[in-house]
Amino acid sequence: MNEGPYERVDAGNEGAVDSALAIAAESGDEKESPETLYLNLVKKCLTRLLFPEQHQLILSPQSRMYRIAWRYAQSLLARFQLDIVTTRPVDPKERQEGLDCPASAETMIGLKRLDNLQKCIVDILYHGVPGDLIETGVWRGGAAIFMRAVLKAYGDEQRHIWLADSFQGLPKPDAKKYPADARDTLWQVARLAVPVEEVKENFRRYGLLDERVHFLVGWFRDTLPTAPMQRLAILRLDGDMYESTMDALTHLYPKLSPGGYVIIDDFALPNCRAAVEDFRAQHRIAENLVAIDHFAKFWQRLAF
Ligand SMILES: C[S@@+](CC[C@H](N)C(=O)[O-])C[C@H]1O[C@@H](n2cnc3c(N)ncnc32)[C@H](O)[C@@H]1O
Repeated sequence: MNEGPYERVDAGNEGAVDSALAIAAESGDEKESPETLYLNLVKKCLTRLLFPEQHQLILSPQSRMYRIAWRYAQSLLARFQLDIVTTRPVDPKERQEGLDCPASAETMIGLKRLDNLQKCIVDILYHGVPGDLIETGVWRGGAAIFMRAVLKAYGDEQRHIWLADSFQGLPKPDAKKYPADARDTLWQVARLAVPVEEVKENFRRYGLLDERVHFLVGWFRDTLPTAPMQRLAILRLDGDMYESTMDALTHLYPKLSPGGYVIIDDFALPNCRAAVEDFRAQHRIAENLVAIDHFAKFWQRLAF
């Protein structure tokens, strides 16, 4: 077991922080080592808690009728480089929990889930758990940028970061094969389609695009079965749907080293949750599912 230069940390849940100021001032780690100082700053930039956005995006209205009118209005406005936004100020508590859709932040997962990701990565580094890190469903790339930042901060020179995404949004539901996705409408949300070049540019802005960052471009069902990494230590799933979650678990969980972590960003979504529960039941996975915040859960793989 490698006890290397890494501080040992507990990747578990933390209590909610009440005050908005405290949210911006704190970031989970009390120790002010150069690594944590850098990573705290990166997290506050990636979530824009440091420079709060002055407007917020609206994904799409709930009601079907409004949604159709909404999409029509949005595509019309887009021709004139206009957009529909709300001037409601960003609520730092929502941003901490990853509950809103940021206008410009590179991630929507919020501070608590970034804290959890950091703790999982530091834990696998401390324990020398072999394998690379992957996120399936990257959007603007923020969580993956943060993965690269953590490896860099702790001087890791071995591991690679993998980003799997269509880079054109979510797939249309295949209701025959995955009935749980039948009513899913996220494939219609244009804001969830972020081109790969834009994600690369986001990495560049943080000085973190290098030969250890890899892009798996396409639907998970096509890219994940032949994904070239041998082993994984962190498997972060953020594809929202049953199909996307099940494809990632089916093709990547067998590569996860004992001691590695599976993070399910969308556990609160019924179709994602159903995929996780089905997969765990099919493979008799008994490790505890631990809550990260109101939305996400994770577990540590203990044995084969
Ligand atoms: C909620 S966003 C991810 C948020 C991101 N992790 C972050 O840090 O903000 C979901 C992403 O998953 C991708 N996605 C979902 N299902 C997919 C599939 N089956 N194949 C490829 N990409 C998929 C979408 O293109 C989108 O970028």
